[in-house]
Amino acid sequence: MPRSKIALIGGGQIGGNLALLATQKELGDVVIFDIPQSEGMVKGKALDIMQLRPHDGYDSTITGTSKWDDVKDSDVFIITAGIPRKPGMNREDLLEINLGIMKDVAKNIKKQSPNAFVIVISNPLDAMVYAFYKISGFNKHKVVGMAGALDSARLRTFIAMETECSVQDVNCMVLGGHGDTMVPIIRLGTIGGVPIESLISSERLKEIVDRTRFAGGEIVKLFGNGSAFYAPAQSAIEMAESYLRDKKRVIPCASLCEGEFDVDGYFIGVPSVIGANGVERILEFKLEKDERIALNETLKAVKNTVKETGL
Ligand code: APR
Repeated sequence: MPRSKIALIGGGQIGGNLALLATQKELGDVVIFDIPQSEGMVKGKALDIMQLRPHDGYDSTITGTSKWDDVKDSDVFIITAGIPRKPGMNREDLLEINLGIMKDVAKNIKKQSPNAFVIVISNPLDAMVYAFYKISGFNKHKVVGMAGALDSARLRTFIAMETECSVQDVNCMVLGGHGDTMVPIIRLGTIGGVPIESLISSERLKEIVDRTRFAGGEIVKLFGNGSAFYAPAQSAIEMAESYLRDKKRVIPCASLCEGEFDVDGYFIGVPSVIGANGVERILEFKLEKDERIALNETLKAVKNTVKETGL
């Protein structure tokens, strides 16, 4: 069987790590695409990763390019093209510039690989994934945004740190938009099946939830120039792997809701089954009153950013 082809649109901080992780998981041949001014940088990253393969014996190849023809017939696209946040900026501040980039990217992906599975990472995520969907005209099952996987991983990390239990056994999802209004569903979270709420006080949980909401900003402040890249890359790779290997993992992703959770026509973080057909299903469940109110708040925020795209 020929290897899958994975195209990374944007070969910056997240893009470089995506290329490394895709190689180490042997997901397929990787093409890193960037603008002509950054062609040398992505060619260099590709060559560098090519040269780490002998140690563990990875056979897939990595190339760098600024030519759209080189991503033709890719199975998966992961889009990070755009600019990241600087201290003092929120994700919405990136809208104008990243929307212009997304318009160009969506048209080209449609031309090169109309049947691909597309994972959007560029921020503001909820608006960028919507923009890609509208401009490309792709089927809703083939377009998804990476947000909940990262927000949930951050929450799980903080809970594991608090309880000194393995992060592997901490299960807790974050729904809603990829911003300060995200909705952690603590009520259903467990550590190895034991409810989180019975292990951590409600005051401390509130602090952990708040830290999760601003976890991206915490890193932006520490870096001083740019935003998180290791964890975002790993989150997107988890989604790509579930698609390519038909794992049907249940991952909180920005999926197009058409009535699920009473959301209609917007991409918002919901538990999504990712398999060979893309976003195959959204797993709906009954929300408590406070969770519903919080989801409505996040939806308002998503609608506002989407409105600004004019699409
Ligand atoms: N086509 C392809 N790549 C582009 C384009 C374009 N039209 N415009 C910009 N890029 C490239 C840049 O040249 C750069 O290499 O996108 C890359 C972005 O990389 P970084 O600046 O390192 O940003 P990164 O940290 O990877 O974040 C990318 O993901 O999480 C979001 O908020 C973050 O929107 C940002 C995106």
